Amino acid sequence: DIPSLYEAFNDYFPIGAAIEPFQTSGLKSDLLKKHVNMLVAENVMKPASIHPAEDTYRWEEADKIVQFAKENNMQLRFHTLVWHTQVGDWFFKDAEGKPMVDETDPAKREANKKLLLERLDDHVRTIVSRYKDDIISWDVVNEVIEPRDPHGMRASEWYQITGTDYIETAFRAAREAGGPDIKLYINDYGTDDITKREMLYDLVKEMLDKGVPIDGVGHQTHISIHWPPVADIIESMERFAELGLVNSVTELDMSLYAWDDRSDFGESIPEEVLSKQADRYRELFEALKANKDIINEVVFWGIADDHTWLSGFPVKRTEAPLLFDKYLHAKPAFWAVVDSKND
Ligand code: G3I
Repeated sequence: DIPSLYEAFNDYFPIGAAIEPFQTSGLKSDLLKKHVNMLVAENVMKPASIHPAEDTYRWEEADKIVQFAKENNMQLRFHTLVWHTQVGDWFFKDAEGKPMVDETDPAKREANKKLLLERLDDHVRTIVSRYKDDIISWDVVNEVIEPRDPHGMRASEWYQITGTDYIETAFRAAREAGGPDIKLYINDYGTDDITKREMLYDLVKEMLDKGVPIDGVGHQTHISIHWPPVADIIESMERFAELGLVNSVTELDMSLYAWDDRSDFGESIPEEVLSKQADRYRELFEALKANKDIINEVVFWGIADDHTWLSGFPVKRTEAPLLFDKYLHAKPAFWAVVDSKND
């Protein structure tokens, strides 16, 4: 019998996993019950799933995950109130069905902006009101920074139509609807990169100075066995802690390949690769433990290698980024994480 992952971290932070509703029954659910005490929906709480049309909310799939978490005393993260993908087109169309981004008339642009912010306000309040007693941590906005776009702000429809007002509206509405106890996050990937990190820092600081209620930064932490250095991940957390914010690792997984590598291990992953993965997971968790005061939660993007977005991205190939293999057996990385020291 193997130890429980989350119990090994009881003195540090909750350990979570992203799941789909179908994983709340069968063998996968047993693995989850034993090893994690936090859950996040991999897809079913995204805007397109939960709010596919202006007058339509679909709660069934999201509710399955909430229900499973409650039955098993697990906490929850919400992912995500606002994103530029997996969001219904209807948000960004005017009353005549014309895409708001195509509008050139200044008065109409202003009216569109107002309409979009009203829709967003309603979206956020409706969802937060429903789940505020069940869900503790909320990704309010996801991936709003893009260093290659003007001002470092992702040129999404949200940004093109409202500037940064959508971010402000979303956080304020979430706080008003959810009260002071829920934790509100700005979530992004690549936060270890100094350029991107500083753009995020400047945005968050500007928002905080305006009184926008941001509590924490979610660091997705989709890393590989080669990159980035653990020190850069921690340095980023320290930077946001300077602003009085908490940090969470929100989507942790560790690809076996370098970013620009397109090779495929196929059926047999070399042992030295799995052992390298274990060493790096150990190094990461030792650093996370040592910095537990600025870390709220650590959530994996999946639980076992049979189900991971990376097996289709950037190309279809064998991937094994998690702590359990495709047969749900503990990998070397599992033991490395459980045995990680804090001294
Ligand atoms: O639900 C449809 C199904 O009806 C259809 O038959 C099938 C055919 O392609 O697609 C299904 O939707 C897929 C969906 O996952 C649910 O499985 C989408 O194609 C697929 O693109 C989508 O991928 C998700 C991706 O976000 C979308 O951008 C991944 O599962 C999910 O792991 C991934 O998660 C993101 C986080 O939200 C944000 N951070 C990065 C992370 C990894 O990309």
